[in-house]
Amino acid sequence: MKVHGDVDLLFGVIENLVDNALEFTPSGGTITLEARIDAGQPVLHVADSGPGIEPGEREAVLCPFYRSPSQYAHATAGHGLGLSLVAAIARVHDADIEIHDNQPGCKMVLRFRGRMLAR
Ligand SMILES: Nc1ncnc2c1ncn2[C@@H]1O[C@H](COP(=O)(O)OP(=O)(O)OP(=O)(O)O)[C@@H](O)[C@H]1O
Ligand SMILES: [Mg+2]
Repeated sequence: MKVHGDVDLLFGVIENLVDNALEFTPSGGTITLEARIDAGQPVLHVADSGPGIEPGEREAVLCPFYRSPSQYAHATAGHGLGLSLVAAIARVHDADIEIHDNQPGCKMVLRFRGRMLAR
C-alpha cells in the first residue's frame, strides 16, 4: 500500500498515536497497528486495550491543550498537543481521523480520502 504525502509528518502521526497507546494503556495490555485498504481507501489503525475515550470527549481530544480529566490522564505527563497535531497532519493529507471504541480501549483510525491514492 502506498500513500502520497510527507513521510516525516506521517511518521509523526504514527509516533503520536503509538505514544498515546503506550502512555494510557495499563501494563499487560495490547496495542495493535494495522495498515490496509478499506472500501478503496488506505487506512491506518492504532488500537489499544486501555481506558478508551468517551464518545462525548472524542471531538475535544483533537483540540490543542485538551486532556481528559479522568484518572488516566492525570497519571501521565503531557500537554494535550499530540492529537491536535495528528488532526492537523490528517487535514493536509486529505485524511480523516476517527476515534472508535475498541471494546476495551480505543481505536484511532486515519482514513485517506480522494487524491492521496494507494497504488
Ligand atoms: N490511547 C488513548 N487512550 C485513552 N485516552 C487517550 C488516548 N489517546 C489520547 N487520549 C486522551 O486524549 C487526551 C489528548 O491526547 P494528546 O495526545 O493530544 O495529549 P497528551 O498525550 O495528553 O499530551 P502530549 O501528546 O502533548 O504529550 C489525552 O490527555 C487523553 O486524555
Ligand atoms: Mg499524546
